[in-house]
Amino acid sequence: MYFKNLKLQDFRNYDQEKVEFHPKVNIITGNNAQGKTNILEALYMMSLSKSFRTNKDSEMIGFGKNLARIKSSSFKDDRQIDIEIILEEGQKTIKIDGLKANKISEILENVYIVIFSPEDIGIIKGEPEKRRKFINRELCQLKPVYYSNLGRYKKIVQQRNHLLKQDNINPDVLSVWNQEFADMGARIIREREIFIKKLDKISREIHKKITDGKENLTIIYDSDVTCKESLRDQIEEFQRKLQKNAQNDLFRKTSTVGPHKDDLKIMIDEMDIRNFGSQGQQRTAALSLKLAEIEIIREETGEIPILLLDDVLSELDFSRQKFLISSLREAQLFITTTEISDYVRDTLTDNFIFTVQGGKIRREQTF
Ligand SMILES: Nc1ncnc2c1ncn2[C@@H]1O[C@H](COP(=O)(O)OP(=O)(O)OP(=O)(O)O)[C@@H](O)[C@H]1O
Ligand SMILES: [Mg+2]
Repeated sequence: MYFKNLKLQDFRNYDQEKVEFHPKVNIITGNNAQGKTNILEALYMMSLSKSFRTNKDSEMIGFGKNLARIKSSSFKDDRQIDIEIILEEGQKTIKIDGLKANKISEILENVYIVIFSPEDIGIIKGEPEKRRKFINRELCQLKPVYYSNLGRYKKIVQQRNHLLKQDNINPDVLSVWNQEFADMGARIIREREIFIKKLDKISREIHKKITDGKENLTIIYDSDVTCKESLRDQIEEFQRKLQKNAQNDLFRKTSTVGPHKDDLKIMIDEMDIRNFGSQGQQRTAALSLKLAEIEIIREETGEIPILLLDDVLSELDFSRQKFLISSLREAQLFITTTEISDYVRDTLTDNFIFTVQGGKIRREQTF
């Protein structure tokens, strides 16, 4: 799959732009703060209708403007798909092939994207929320039903927390909430457990290759609710946990267990790399996870995702750069960089090179 073109209107620092892409390699250069990452953000919007750097859609509307429009044409299995996203304060409209989508989830499964950015190290080093976000985004791309379950789950948590903040809570009301909570929560736990087992297996193989067989990477889903093999057992287990934890929830006036609190354990050999890994080890582990993400999408969907590399190559040593580039050769690539290295110029020869300056993107003409 690949993007053929992108049109922007009042998106971030772009007024009106239209750009045609190369089906393989697109290198976007320019000085800092010119709008390189903004292009990747606009493309990423087409996968989940969400930004990778903000939770507030309205931040993407050009300063002083009322509406931002992003339009793309992409190809999946030789079929062209036109997606349009219109952002207005407090409102988002999605059109697919000219037809307004009734649900946001209709955008899923049209384009799959994996983004590599310097912030990926946060998946390893950062707070548990970073890791949950990573899992959620991945599963949302792969499973529209996960997307809708997660939305429902988040609402249930909100409402249950609202109830827990009140005085004199009626136990019957809480137990009704617990049923829905356990039902949705268990579905999320099941999907995550299955996904993380795959991620563990694939990223271990990749990590071994990058480190010449020296390091064993292990990823384990770390949930307060024990994982079970079937959904039914999982729901029961969740309900048991909620009952056991009821006093704690009432005391703290919030939902203290559930997938919204879960985490990943990431280890090299037996060592927790969040606390004990070197910078380089953490960066390599993040890279292994991202490369595993590509492989999982390919296995699950038969599609090679489009890859966005936001300023990452300069962060890696030469052998890791080489490994990364050679692993990505089949996909459509978008690479942003302030300076194109000789290695990239020599290796990725079949390309378009763009220069971005002050919210304008131009293709460099090569003769
Ligand atoms: N909503 C917005 N409206 C207008 N301009 C915006 C908006 N949001 C961000 N910008 C501008 O976009 C620019 C940053 O764009 P971007 O992050 O794409 O830069 P970049 O080229 O990737 O830079 P770097 O090399 O530093 O990563 C800044 O000048 C910022 O002021
Ligand atoms: Mg940038």
